[in-house]
Amino acid sequence: MRGFIFDLDGVIVDTAKYHYFAWKHLADELGISFTEKDNENFKGVSRKRCLEILLEMGNKEVSTEQFDRWLAEKNEDYLQYISKMNASEILPDVPKVLNYLKSKNIPMALGSASKNARPILEKVGLLSYFDAIVDGTAVTRAKPDPEVFLIAADLLNVVPEHCVVFEDALAGIEAANAACMLSIGIGEAEVLSEADRVFRDFTEIDLDFIEQLTQMEHKPRKS
Ligand code: BG6
Ligand code: MG
Repeated sequence: MRGFIFDLDGVIVDTAKYHYFAWKHLADELGISFTEKDNENFKGVSRKRCLEILLEMGNKEVSTEQFDRWLAEKNEDYLQYISKMNASEILPDVPKVLNYLKSKNIPMALGSASKNARPILEKVGLLSYFDAIVDGTAVTRAKPDPEVFLIAADLLNVVPEHCVVFEDALAGIEAANAACMLSIGIGEAEVLSEADRVFRDFTEIDLDFIEQLTQMEHKPRKS
């Protein structure tokens, strides 16, 4: 049996841009320069760690209370964006792959750093596809630690070597590789150079390839 594990933000839905808008808003308020390139380092990274990085960028040291207030402010801003989400924000051809795997009864899990993963899946109508949800509330060690994916494999009852991970963040690819899973990068090949395979998005992935993955013996070596 093979297991398929999907990251959420930037893989299933285009929420990476909303995270960026919310961090940018806070960064502007604090007078810290923050670009889309800086946002690359925030992908796959926990909310708390993102704020730590932002404050390091601005050379700011703050009290725990202030830190928690900014953390809450960023999330409230982000929640405003996701409150308006619907199925139209599912990334292209994601349903094609999820429906195929579902029709074959292949176990599927979500492996995300986000604490907002469940409500987002509900809003876009994809919650029922997943046999297990491992989100930011379930892990103690963030990507690139493999914990999130190892818990997902365990819940799916599939050995890690028989799992495939779809990820848009370098930290997530590193986590999948550390878990001995096949890592499929979704995004730019230069950013995701450590992935076993990289596709720009799911429109580049055909169902024959997915079928091959469901039959793979073990994680193949990089060609
Ligand atoms: C990850 C995103 O999926 O979730 C990160 O790639 C984000 O950018 C992290 O910081 C935590 O998300 P949330 O929703 O718990 O703030
Ligand atoms: Mg992501």
